[in-house]
Amino acid sequence: MPSIDNPTEKTLAALAINDPLAIEDLFAMEKSRFDKQLAAKNPDEVNYTLMKNAWLGRKAGVLTLITENWLKSASPTLKPIVGQSLNQLKHHIEGSLEIFRIAAEKTSEEIASARERVDLSLPGVIRTIGSHHLIRQVFQEIEDIFFSIGFSVVEGPEIETPYYNFEALNIPEFHPVRDDMDTFYIDLPKGAPTPLLLRTHTSPMQIRTMEKRQPPVRVIVPGKIYRRDNPDATHSFMFHQVEGLAVDTDITFCDFTGTIEYFVKQFFGPGVKTRLRPSYFPFTEPSVEFDGSCIFCGGSGTAAGGGTCSKCKGAGWIELFGAGMVDPAVYGFVNYDAKKVSGFAFGIGIDRLAMLKYGIDDIQVFFQNDVRFLRQFP
Ligand code: PHE
Repeated sequence: MPSIDNPTEKTLAALAINDPLAIEDLFAMEKSRFDKQLAAKNPDEVNYTLMKNAWLGRKAGVLTLITENWLKSASPTLKPIVGQSLNQLKHHIEGSLEIFRIAAEKTSEEIASARERVDLSLPGVIRTIGSHHLIRQVFQEIEDIFFSIGFSVVEGPEIETPYYNFEALNIPEFHPVRDDMDTFYIDLPKGAPTPLLLRTHTSPMQIRTMEKRQPPVRVIVPGKIYRRDNPDATHSFMFHQVEGLAVDTDITFCDFTGTIEYFVKQFFGPGVKTRLRPSYFPFTEPSVEFDGSCIFCGGSGTAAGGGTCSKCKGAGWIELFGAGMVDPAVYGFVNYDAKKVSGFAFGIGIDRLAMLKYGIDDIQVFFQNDVRFLRQFP
């Protein structure tokens, strides 16, 4: 038996084989070569294709070589034996490869399903849950207090016309208080019907509400407002207010102070005293500034460790917000009968109130969104 690396590349004559037994041996060798190769391979799609090409490939597959080199040139006596053995080998290879293919299919399915399997016992992905911003929380506190005494919430546009932000609030074009409100005007194309600005307070919503509703009106208006302030510990170009408006046929100054006092005590605690000082707003008359007794020194003006209280600077009082009885001139802009109705309005600076209540000494921290700050108010 000639031991040649690849006998299928030679003819039987070249291999000097001329008897049936030697032919059977030759085929047996090829069969076991195939079996060994196949057994050494993992059943997967790539190996299946490799084996199929190597053995059954039309051009250079082993069976094609055998057909070309052994069968075609075999002597007439040997030809039937070669043909029969070749058929058997082909049969064996095809059958084995089919089993291999099925196994490959099964493993690839198993791999895929293992990859896609969801293990319900694994710990889940824990995503940190955010919380409401402190400003939002304070809005909510204030809304809850006013809800409890019959107010409802309305919201309005942050981009306003000078009519709503000023004129209808009894602030005509050359009124000096417009100077106090460093206003952001919006660049508009030439010929725009009205200038537009970022509202400098929530008071425009007094007008918009009264235009839409007849008395009795009891609303609060939480929202953002904008002024051309340079940022420092107590100033920001954007901050927050809650406007309040109550108008009815019989609202008195007592209703006004009672409501405000109720709110301040609910918000800061029952121990806080309130006082009011005369002030001026074009849209309220009389106008007042509400003060609360200093929550840091209990109104004494003296800090706990002795010395002057740094929060109220020794005054014992802290300015809280502006308010007043609605100026009758304002009713003229909304077609209310100033002889029949009366009411009050207030504008609470939320950032300032939040700073006071939660002991925050820099307004900028509200807008920096540093999580170390935000996490303190979950
Ligand atoms: N709009 C005023 C301000 O921003 C506050 C205010 C509101 C005063 C309502 C009186 C009545 O300063």
